[in-house]
Amino acid sequence: MPVRRQLAPASIQSEDIRLKRVEFHYTKVLTRLMAAHALAEKLTAIGYQRMLRTIDDPELRPVIEKNFAEERRHARLLYDALAEIGLSEAQADRLMVTVVRTPSFAAPRRFAEQAEGELNLVMGSLSLDVTGMLMIGINYRDSSYAPHARAAEAILEEEVDHESFAMNALSRVLDRFGAARVAGALREWLPCAVNFFGPPGTGFTFDCLTYGLKARDNQELADLFLALLERRLDQLGLKLPVLTREYPCRLA
Ligand SMILES: [Fe+2]
Ligand SMILES: [Fe+2]
Repeated sequence: MPVRRQLAPASIQSEDIRLKRVEFHYTKVLTRLMAAHALAEKLTAIGYQRMLRTIDDPELRPVIEKNFAEERRHARLLYDALAEIGLSEAQADRLMVTVVRTPSFAAPRRFAEQAEGELNLVMGSLSLDVTGMLMIGINYRDSSYAPHARAAEAILEEEVDHESFAMNALSRVLDRFGAARVAGALREWLPCAVNFFGPPGTGFTFDCLTYGLKARDNQELADLFLALLERRLDQLGLKLPVLTREYPCRLA
């Protein structure tokens, strides 16, 4: 049964939170959601920065530099929105200490902590930018919390660029590294990419949907992502790896 949304897009302002005009639980759910979004943007920025240390290619470096600067700005926008409701960056990150070790943060952590070289750059971008574009464009753009909706709008245009970089770069890595290595990299990254949407059907997402902080369940977005990617892989003569359905998703 679809969840009934109680709050319209952009209907809550930061002063509603500061003056406690909304129920405490709304603030709690919103804070966790924005803290997770902020940290995902920050880890993505760190991943692009890491890529600058491992990639010399003069064609790729300007793109990596651009994406790094933009991801840093995205993180800043979210941490600024959190500061407006009284949470510092350190406090926001502290809320995420457990979450960051769960499968839903495996992709941003892998990108920030281990990824090197062009093939991983493209896999990281597929796993974080193509997924991120869906979360931001479908869920956060219509957030009931006006500052999050505004931040999403400001981020979205750049994420669309990142998304097309990743999708186009797939054919470049296919030429350079061959189908077997690209297929191997997809098998390595894709489960993490799908898990980045988070577990399906949780109480937390139910609250997000009710409060109008999200529009769709994580599973719907994950399915959309897989459909987009499958279409692109099809054009390149590549197969989508077979994955298990349950969370955390794995190779079947
Ligand atoms: Fe971003
Ligand atoms: Fe991005």
